[in-house]
Amino acid sequence: MRIVNVVGARPNFMKIAPLMAAYGAHPGIEPILVHTGQHYDHAMSTLFFEELGIPRPDVNLGVHGGSHAVQHAEVMRAFEGTLADLEPDLVVVVGDVNSTISCALVAAKAGVAVAHVEAGLRSFDRTMPEEINRVLTDQLSDLLFVSEQSGLINLAREGLDHEGVHFVGNVMIDSLYRNLPKADASSVVDDHDLTPGQYAVLTMHRPANVDDPRVLGRLLGVVERVAAQMPIVFPAHPRTLDRLAAFGLRARLDAAKNITVVKPLGYLDFLKLVKEARIILTDSGGIQEETTVLRVPCVTLRESTERPSTCLVGTNRLAGTDPARVWAEFEAAMASDPASFGIPAKWDGRAAERIAAHLAHHGGLPRAHRHQHTAHGALARLSRVD
Ligand code: UD1
Repeated sequence: MRIVNVVGARPNFMKIAPLMAAYGAHPGIEPILVHTGQHYDHAMSTLFFEELGIPRPDVNLGVHGGSHAVQHAEVMRAFEGTLADLEPDLVVVVGDVNSTISCALVAAKAGVAVAHVEAGLRSFDRTMPEEINRVLTDQLSDLLFVSEQSGLINLAREGLDHEGVHFVGNVMIDSLYRNLPKADASSVVDDHDLTPGQYAVLTMHRPANVDDPRVLGRLLGVVERVAAQMPIVFPAHPRTLDRLAAFGLRARLDAAKNITVVKPLGYLDFLKLVKEARIILTDSGGIQEETTVLRVPCVTLRESTERPSTCLVGTNRLAGTDPARVWAEFEAAMASDPASFGIPAKWDGRAAERIAAHLAHHGGLPRAHRHQHTAHGALARLSRVD
């Protein structure tokens, strides 16, 4: 069974790494890795391949930057040819970045079965490009591997409760468990003169937070308030650095005492930095999950989350971007007791094993079969309404 696996942007790399490793236990699977090139900097891409032991991509589509439409178009154009050359039995896409939906759409139109890893997550906020990517990728996929229970409910609501849906757990957490011992050897905490348990980590890169000078300025205000309590390390995404400079806010950040802006960190340094932190402020999706397993309180600078299990188990708090509310959630998170936090079901480091075993034993679900099944389901629902 030839499986083409697609990666494009930073959050994809820690999801594909355990899958590529898990295929190794199944001689009947021939995995091929395709990198779209969406992220291309050493710090945003190559370093992750090295640290996570991901094999070199068999194909790099070399698509760099551009608007969303340009990214989709260029990835689709390049991936169509690659797919025709490789003639795979299945295309596996992970997460919710632009490369995910672009390749899923090309495969679906070429009649190749598609598996989506991390299916069913919904923020219900269509202003997030990732939400559009999630909804459409799930609709195009034959196999839906779900990371948390909310995913099952969301898929069923969209009519996707067919036999291709499998609750397997969280591949990102597989990577975390596998790499903790290596991350522990990182000197990042000492290098920044930090004391374990006495500093905060900040990450911010969502368009909704960094593309509007007023929102970004307000968020900086509350970050300065946190910095009055403890040192903050801020590994900044290239897009955030661009915006800070463009809005004339960079000097304010540099002048702030107790805030250290650093370049994007590698996987191992970042994991270590988060593990030893007192608290995290972030607008990332994946960091909400990583902090949950590491039992570090997380304040999410967004109005919604597609990962509600992280809030339900107690680690994560949705704070929006209003400074008063962020501050209140920061104080509540500081007062929370990590010993009371739980871990979502099947976040046990074995999700990739489950996916690989499923593919090895059952193969991809033929598209025609799935569609027939969904049509039967829809008819049954209609007749219940009647
Ligand atoms: C993408 C994902 C987002 C994910 C984030 C993590 C989508 C819609 N968004 O957002 O879900 O959380 O990655 O990092 O796919 N850039 C560089 N070097 C790079 C990559 C990006 O300089 O290696 C700069 C470029 O100016 C680029 C900009 O960042 O145009 C934005 O990159 P892009 O991939 O479009 O979106 P992200 O904001 O990184």
